[in-house]
Amino acid sequence: MKPFKVAVLGCGTVGGGVARIMLERKEALALSAGRPVELAALVDLFPVRSAARHGLPIGLFGGESDLSGAQAAARTDAILADPEIDLVVETMGGTSDYVRGVCERVLAAGKHLATANKALLAERGDELFAAADKAGKALGFEAAVCGAIPVIRVVKEGFAGDEVLSISGIMNGTSNYILSKMTAEGIGFDEALKLAQEKGYAEADPTLDVGGGDAGHKLSILVRLAFGLAGANRTLAVSGVSDVTKADLRVAAEMDCAIKLICHAQRSGDIVYASVGPMMVKRSNFLSRIDGATNAVRAMNRYSGEHILVGKGAGSLETGSAIVADIVSIARYGERIVNPAARPGPQLRNMDELPFPYTVLFDTADVPGITGLVTTAIGDQGINIDTVGHNMHSGEAAVFAVETMPCTRSSILKAIAVIRAHRADIFRAEPKIFPVLY
Ligand code: HSE
Repeated sequence: MKPFKVAVLGCGTVGGGVARIMLERKEALALSAGRPVELAALVDLFPVRSAARHGLPIGLFGGESDLSGAQAAARTDAILADPEIDLVVETMGGTSDYVRGVCERVLAAGKHLATANKALLAERGDELFAAADKAGKALGFEAAVCGAIPVIRVVKEGFAGDEVLSISGIMNGTSNYILSKMTAEGIGFDEALKLAQEKGYAEADPTLDVGGGDAGHKLSILVRLAFGLAGANRTLAVSGVSDVTKADLRVAAEMDCAIKLICHAQRSGDIVYASVGPMMVKRSNFLSRIDGATNAVRAMNRYSGEHILVGKGAGSLETGSAIVADIVSIARYGERIVNPAARPGPQLRNMDELPFPYTVLFDTADVPGITGLVTTAIGDQGINIDTVGHNMHSGEAAVFAVETMPCTRSSILKAIAVIRAHRADIFRAEPKIFPVLY
């Protein structure tokens, strides 16, 4: 049978992993795909360096010389014009006009596309899925969410007979590594970030990871699959882990919780409540025990109940394996693969509008009457208190936490405003509000 020919654009961490697996598992892939699957061409600016790094034959790069941007673009154009190439893997990354344009041209040229580019899918997914549908081609993106974990396939196909009620997950390994190190070693954010950079988890510019943007991209992609919600990335509320302190983590432990950067989305009719941010996760919830750079996703379904997926969210061969899974499935099913459709109904709302349990951390002056004042103000807003925890006195400071029953964030903010109106002098720091995930 005619081989299914693949070209890989960008032979960095992920593209190199794809190429390596395709060469190492050639026979096995042919068996799974029902036809030979051939790595036909690679494009990279630095062929010799990339070939050596990933153990790849230099011949696949079309030459040994380093390429200028224009030369790489010309080689890419030749691949797009080659009718023999069936599928193009985009592993250049980023959301530049060039990368977006290449993806669109791949589809317009009548080729399938596979990519790990979560930022591009989150920002331009609507256009790309529409372009794939128009071309009648498949857009594989298993690697874009949680690297090696086959969460796309599970939600899209495994849950097709069910209804997803909620999805929560740890989807950024760098942030989870940082929080785990801070907790285990009692170090601050800056020191833990440095360790993450030394380990190669965090980029030199870690903004997208620690600011929650990367996790937001992944959740935006998942809510399209789980709830049919398009364009979530435009309005999704996202915050990161850089403001989490050692003191927050200590109080969390006292409240039987771990602080994790959580992507959370839940549906109520046509409303999808979603956010990305640090949450206090109760120790009874599996996600609280996911440490290091590991990713995990927990889905609650209407018929089948709880599902948990755990695995590696990054890495060359790890993420590469997810793209190769797309390649095999597209080689086998090709045009019969249905790209995930968005529906017109679902609306995205901020989690803040949903009654949710919260823990509020107070750092106040250590003087009589504070706990009474704070808890009364909270009760006066109709908020039912679950627990008042860990009153740490130092003579100067009293640090304590109030965990509420489900309430809105705005009602907590009103209570804080009332406390401030009475005794602005008692606050040593702005109270911190963490949603609590059970
Ligand atoms: N930088 C991401 C992480 C992996 O730390 O999980 C790729 O999205």
